[in-house]
Amino acid sequence: MTQAVQNAQSRRDFLAGVGALAGISLLPLAGCARSDKVRVGFMLPYTGTYAQLGVAIENGFRLALAEQGGTLGGREVEYFKVDDESNPAKATDNANKIITRDKVDVVVGTVHSGVAMGMIKVARETGTLALIPNAGVNAATGDLCAPNVFRTSFSNWQPTHPLGKVMIDNGHRKAVFITWKYSAGEQALQSFAEGYKAAGGTVIKELFVPFPNVEFQALLTEIAALKPDAVACFFAGGGAVKFVKDYAAAGLKNNIPLYGSGFLTEGVLDAQGDSAEGVITTLHYADSLDNPRNKAFRAAYREAYGMEADVYAVQGYDTGLLLAQALEKAGGDISNRDAIIAAMEGAVIDSPRGRWTMSKAHNPIQDFYLRRVENGDNKVIGVAWKGLEDPARGCNM
Ligand code: PHB
Repeated sequence: MTQAVQNAQSRRDFLAGVGALAGISLLPLAGCARSDKVRVGFMLPYTGTYAQLGVAIENGFRLALAEQGGTLGGREVEYFKVDDESNPAKATDNANKIITRDKVDVVVGTVHSGVAMGMIKVARETGTLALIPNAGVNAATGDLCAPNVFRTSFSNWQPTHPLGKVMIDNGHRKAVFITWKYSAGEQALQSFAEGYKAAGGTVIKELFVPFPNVEFQALLTEIAALKPDAVACFFAGGGAVKFVKDYAAAGLKNNIPLYGSGFLTEGVLDAQGDSAEGVITTLHYADSLDNPRNKAFRAAYREAYGMEADVYAVQGYDTGLLLAQALEKAGGDISNRDAIIAAMEGAVIDSPRGRWTMSKAHNPIQDFYLRRVENGDNKVIGVAWKGLEDPARGCNM
């Protein structure tokens, strides 16, 4: 051992001894507990009905960073992951794993609204920066809004808000709404009902299936008996594949038109095949959006992952863009909380979905497109609502 190494060693022993006496750990002083890298944690579903959504979000996020040289504000990035299984009962534990155990600087999560509630609780308690790349739970940017919580996707209020008027314009005055029984479905229904009633429609029946069940047969029989003018719904991922196929197989598709928030036909059109033809939805994205940004993004995504991008990939990508912008403005200093928050609040995201800005409650103000499935593609047939902003009910920020 050289003298210099010996001196350093005895200094570390001394500091560790003092720390032990004082009951505290001085290891960070020796520089071995935390690296200089930005620690990014993905809390996403990698199994279950939303598994495909979690993967697309992570892919999109990584693509955005790869396009900036793989760094954030000039700093290298270290990734941590937890599979939240879209299970709300495990949400607090999983959030603690990534936030408290892995000590991430920023958590990117999640897909499921109920799981997001647990994550937000831990993020609020610890002050950890949380970026929500999908989960629409209204409270995240409503009564639980917080300076350190941002959403890059949508609130559950947003996608179905324009849908009611679309259905009335198409002559459907009596509708049935069917969804999974949890906050995302319930809030999508509430918002749909508000808009539909205001436009002169009546929701004659609300039907629920427990999440993530896909036993739709009994309810499809009930819909056939009710004979509404149309059906509106919220389903996504694996459940959306099954619902759209069962709806067609039950012989309903040609008699009772099917509508939904656009998650119904996102990333699943190949699996749905002919059953999805003609389904009309509203969403803040469509594969076929005709702008150069979208075309370049889709080509880069295809090249990187050998598959097609969808709204979830876009949301992950935009989360990466938002974080990169903020770290750039903060000179790579993730601990400069005020600078990061100010940068995110003022962000303009040049997204494949079209340019969007952050609302005061930290939710995207964005356009919603009207789409119709034609030849296996979500064809854009109009803009259902320009610059739609969530009402942020209960947010006092
Ligand atoms: C949600 O639980 O908030 C959720 C899940 C999947 C979607 C949209 C919303 O596609």
